[in-house]
Amino acid sequence: MSKLRAEGLYKVFGRRPDEAVADLEGGADREKLRAEGTTAAVIDASFAVEAGQTFVVMGLSGSGKSTLLRMLNGLLEPTAGRVLFDDDDLTALSPRDLRQVRSHKISMVFQHFALFPHRTVLENAGYGLEVQGIPAEERVKRATEALEMVGLAGWEKSWPDELSGGMQQRVGLARALATDADVLLMDESFSALDPLIRRDMQDQLVQLQKRLKKTIVFITHDLNEAMRLGDRIAVMRDGQIVQIGTAEDILVTPANDYVASFTQDVDRSRVLTAGAIMSDPEEVLGTTADDGTTLRTEQDLLAAAPATVGTDTPIVELFTPCSRSGTAVAVTDGDGVLVGVIARSRLLAALGDGDTGGDGATPPSPGGGDAPESAKKVITGA
Ligand SMILES: Nc1ncnc2c1ncn2[C@@H]1O[C@H](COP(=O)(O)OP(=O)(O)O)[C@@H](O)[C@H]1O
Ligand SMILES: [Mg+2]
Repeated sequence: MSKLRAEGLYKVFGRRPDEAVADLEGGADREKLRAEGTTAAVIDASFAVEAGQTFVVMGLSGSGKSTLLRMLNGLLEPTAGRVLFDDDDLTALSPRDLRQVRSHKISMVFQHFALFPHRTVLENAGYGLEVQGIPAEERVKRATEALEMVGLAGWEKSWPDELSGGMQQRVGLARALATDADVLLMDESFSALDPLIRRDMQDQLVQLQKRLKKTIVFITHDLNEAMRLGDRIAVMRDGQIVQIGTAEDILVTPANDYVASFTQDVDRSRVLTAGAIMSDPEEVLGTTADDGTTLRTEQDLLAAAPATVGTDTPIVELFTPCSRSGTAVAVTDGDGVLVGVIARSRLLAALGDGDTGGDGATPPSPGGGDAPESAKKVITGA
């Protein structure tokens, strides 16, 4: 059972929405509808979010992300399709039951978290509990715990304007965490923060998530952020989901040129893993190791490799071994069996472009002298 499921969701704003859905199902053009004054904000969105997963919806401004999120928490009624929460059809709940779900099971964190200026940090963090009618004593206890989780212990009695932007956003996060809702919906929650603080918040969310295992739907227009946070990522364009996959899926096999165009700015070294870029060990058999010996068997290869890594090792960890030695790094599976090799040229090719999938990739000249700009940037630690 998935925690949250969208089935054929549509949201159309404007005139005759139902007709527009029928038209869209028949292949009508979104732009043409728009010219007629009808906005198809979300078109036929289907996906499942498993409990404990972080599902990221990534897309440019206007692609329909917020509209999709508002349908997930029942704030907007879909024009067509269903939202299932724990297999209950959210779209079929009575207004009363829907309110119950919204206040107890789902928490929203927005971009500009509206903290109340005349309430303390603690009171702000406990606001969701107040809405739920939780008695003051328990509110204080849970809000205090939530503030501690986000690293704000000691700030309980402060006022929001005494906090930096990043800290204010953490109060917003604490407010969502204090409610005990198992689903968090986060709409561009970090987008207003300065890059370094934003990065810090991303790290913190990843750490918190390891411990709390909430089900999170996180919206962003930044693919780097999507890839740092998402177990799975849905890429939206003009109301439609054009690809759903892991960060690696999207980087290695983008569904189309549109998705590929986003991946150019991604720090590949942190997303790609050894398993995704390794070559067949056969390729290295018969070549010469640094010390002049010929690598004839897999044992030779394992013995000569400057490092042995697992398939899920991020390739950022391969730079040091690859820079120390001209011999390929060995990749082994969970049982220690050799499953692949990564030569330095292969590593650089993987950083340079999207062409890392299998045998067709042509590595640049060995030695790294011609490393593409993106690779140099990463290697020098920028
Ligand atoms: N209440 C509304 N009425 C009419 N159009 C809307 C409404 N909300 C959103 N839209 C339109 O739907 C499209 C998607 O908007 P939105 O979901 O906010 O995108 P995103 O969050 O990806 O920026 C946009 O064209 C927007 O103008
Ligand atoms: Mg939005």
